[in-house]
Amino acid sequence: MSATELVTVTVDGREVHVPPGTGLVETALAAGVEIPVFCYEPRLGAAVGACRMCLCEIEGMPKLQAACTLTATNGMIVRTAQTSERAAEGQEATLEFILVNHPLDCPVCDKGGECPLQDLTFRWGPGNTRMTFPKRTFEKPIPISPAIALDRERCILCYRCTRFSESVAEDGQLVALNRGAESVIATFEDEPYLAPFSGNVIELCPVGALTSTQYRFEARPWEIQNVPTVCGLCPVGCNIQATTREGKVKRILSRNHPEVDEGWLCDKGRFAFTHLRARDRIADPLRRVRRRGFDVLSWDDALGEAAELLMQAQGRIVTALSGSETVEQAYALGRLMRAGLGAHTGVLPEETSPALDAFRLPLSAIRDAELEPVAERAPIVELWVKAARRQGAQVEQAGDALEGCRRLADKRNALGKSLRESERAILIWSGEEGAGGAHLAALAKELGFAGKPASGAFHLPCTPNGRGIADAWAAASDDEGPNPEPIGLLFVSGDEAAADPNVRALAERAERVIVNAMFQGLAVGWADLVLPGTSYLERDGTYVNLEGRLQRLRRAVIPPAPDELAWISKLAERFAVEVSPHASAVFAEVSERIYDGLPFGEVGEEAPLRTRSEAPAPQLPSEPAAEGKGLRLVRYRPLFSGPAVERVPELQFQRPAPEVELSPGDAGRRGIAPGETVTVTHNGTSLQLRARITKSLREGIVRIAAEHAGELGGTVEVAK
Ligand code: SF4
Ligand code: SF4
Ligand code: FES
Repeated sequence: MSATELVTVTVDGREVHVPPGTGLVETALAAGVEIPVFCYEPRLGAAVGACRMCLCEIEGMPKLQAACTLTATNGMIVRTAQTSERAAEGQEATLEFILVNHPLDCPVCDKGGECPLQDLTFRWGPGNTRMTFPKRTFEKPIPISPAIALDRERCILCYRCTRFSESVAEDGQLVALNRGAESVIATFEDEPYLAPFSGNVIELCPVGALTSTQYRFEARPWEIQNVPTVCGLCPVGCNIQATTREGKVKRILSRNHPEVDEGWLCDKGRFAFTHLRARDRIADPLRRVRRRGFDVLSWDDALGEAAELLMQAQGRIVTALSGSETVEQAYALGRLMRAGLGAHTGVLPEETSPALDAFRLPLSAIRDAELEPVAERAPIVELWVKAARRQGAQVEQAGDALEGCRRLADKRNALGKSLRESERAILIWSGEEGAGGAHLAALAKELGFAGKPASGAFHLPCTPNGRGIADAWAAASDDEGPNPEPIGLLFVSGDEAAADPNVRALAERAERVIVNAMFQGLAVGWADLVLPGTSYLERDGTYVNLEGRLQRLRRAVIPPAPDELAWISKLAERFAVEVSPHASAVFAEVSERIYDGLPFGEVGEEAPLRTRSEAPAPQLPSEPAAEGKGLRLVRYRPLFSGPAVERVPELQFQRPAPEVELSPGDAGRRGIAPGETVTVTHNGTSLQLRARITKSLREGIVRIAAEHAGELGGTVEVAK
C-alpha cells in the first residue's frame, strides 16, 4: 500500500501511519505504545469490549473509549494511560473493579508468574486495596472435563473461552450463565466439555480460572524451560512449545505459526504428551526367550544380535516404516538397510505424491478461499475450513475421494465449473485411499490451478511425516530389490507400524522380526528382538507436513534409551556404512540430495513454505474401479486414536465408539435405526457394531474407525 493510502494517527504524541481499519491496539503498538488488554484477542473475531482495560482518551470523544473496539481513522489523536490522567484513572478503576472478587491467590495459582492479570495489576493497578469485605467463593475446582479445571472465583468474565467455543471451534459447549454480578462461565447443560479443540481455552484464559488438570501444581514459571518444536501426532505439524521441568515434559503450549495453526492446537497434540511416561514404556532392549518370555539385553548385546539377524537375512529383509520417523531417521535406516544390506524392500505407511508440489499453498490460504470441496474432518484444517465458511467461502463436500474427483473434473459439473472459474479455490482430500495425492494433483491440473497462485490442493495424509520419509527413504539409495518371499527378517520401525494389522500380517510371513517401539504392548509377543523407541518430543530432526513445509523438531527431553539415530549409526558401522548419529549431519546429507542444500540451521523456528515446483501430474483414472455389490467400507483413523492417545487417561473419553456410520438412505432401506446393533459382514467375517446415521455420508459408503474394523475391508453388507 502506498503512503497516500495510509492514515495518520497520533498516539501519545507519536505520529504513526497505518492502513485504514487497523485496530487501535495494533496502531498504538506500531507507535511503540502498549495498550493493556484482557478480553481483546483478534483471533476470536470482532472485539467485544468486555473488560474495559484498554480505556483511552480520544480527542473529540467526551468519554473514555475502549481502544480495542476502535479502528484507526485519519487524524485520530489518542492518549493512553501513559500520558492521560483520565485514562490512567479509568484503567486503575477498571482493575480495582476486576479485583473486587478476585481471590488474589497468586502464590498457589497455576497462572501465577505468567498471568496477564498479575502482570497488568503490577504495572497499571492500584498499589493497595480498599475492599475489606469477604470475597465471593465457589466450589472449586470444577472439573469441566477430564483435562480442564475451572476455578470460578478467579474468572474475570472476559468471555475469551466462550467466544472460542462459539466462534472458532464452533462447538458451542462453553456458555455464560446468569447476568450481571451473578454471571458465571459453565458448560452447556453441565455436560463435560468434550470437544477436539477444548484445550485452547486454557491458553486463552488471561487468569488462572481455566487450568490444565495435567499441569495443575506441577511447576512454577521460574522452574521451567520452553522448547520450541513441532507436534508430531498428525500431518498438520502445529508449532508448539514443550514446557519441561527437571527433564520431564509437563505441558504443551501453542507457538503461533500464522500460516500453519494460528496458535490453535487440537487436544491430542496438547494432552497426549503423557504417553512418554506410559507404564509399558520400553527402556531396555528385549530378546524373546522361548517359554520364559523376554530377557533384558545390554545395548551392545542387542546390537550384536540385531547385526546377526540382519546378516542372516541379507537380501530377504523388509522394513515397515511408521510415518512418524524423522526425515533423518528414515534416511539413516535407508542407508543401513538399502546401501548396507543390498537390494531391499521398504513398506511405506502410505502413498504420497510430489505432483502436489505444483499446487502448494500455506494452510492459512484455506481461510481466504472462495470455494472448497472438502471431504472429511482433520484437526486444525477443520478450524481453517470453519474460518473460511465464516468469511463467506462456499464449502462443499465432493463425496468420496476418487469418485468426487471424477465428478469435479467433468466439465458439465456445476461445482467443477465454478472451481475452474474461481481464482481462490482449494481442494482438500482426506480420504485414506492409496494414490490420493496423485489423484488430487491430476484434478487440480485439470481444473487449471497451475496458473492460479491462490488456488491449490491439500492431501491430508494419515501419518505425521509420510511425505518426508518417502522422500528420505528414496534418497538413501538407488537400489530397490524384488519383494522377498519368504521374508527372512521384518524390521518394524515405530509404534504405528507395530500397531498396523497389515504389518502384523507381514510378520506372519517373516522368519524373524525386529521391532523398534516405545510400548511393550505393541512389541512383546511377536518380536524376536525389541529395540526401545522414542517419541517426537525426544528427537532432533525434521518433519515435512501436509503443506510440504519442512519443519524442525527439537529434543525437549532426553529419552530413557538412546535415540534411533544413535543406534542406527552404530549398527551401520558393522556393515561398513557411514551414518552420523547427529541429526544435523544426516540432514546435511539428505539436504544435498533433495532439499537443494538447505542448511539445518536455516529450517528455522517459523519454517517458511517452499515455493511451488513443477512435477508431472498423473492422469485421473477415467473408469471407476469395479466394485462388488454391497456397501464400500471406508476405514479411517480418528483423531483420538493411536498408540499415544491410548495411553493418556484424559483423552479416553474422546476415543471412537465401536460404531458403523451409514448414510440415511442406506440405513432406511435396511430398516436400521440410530443406536441399533447391526452386523457388518465381509467374506464370511462379521462384526457387531452400533449403527450411527451420518447425514453427510454419501449412499453406498459405510465408515468404521480402523481400531473397530477388525479384518473387514472392501465391500461389506450391513444388516440388523
Ligand atoms: S474463564 Fe477465563 S477465559 Fe473464560 S471468561 Fe473467565 S477469565 Fe475469561
Ligand atoms: S492438529 Fe495435529 S499437529 Fe496440530 S496439535 Fe493436533 S495432532 Fe498435533
Ligand atoms: S481489552 Fe478492550 S475492553 Fe477488554
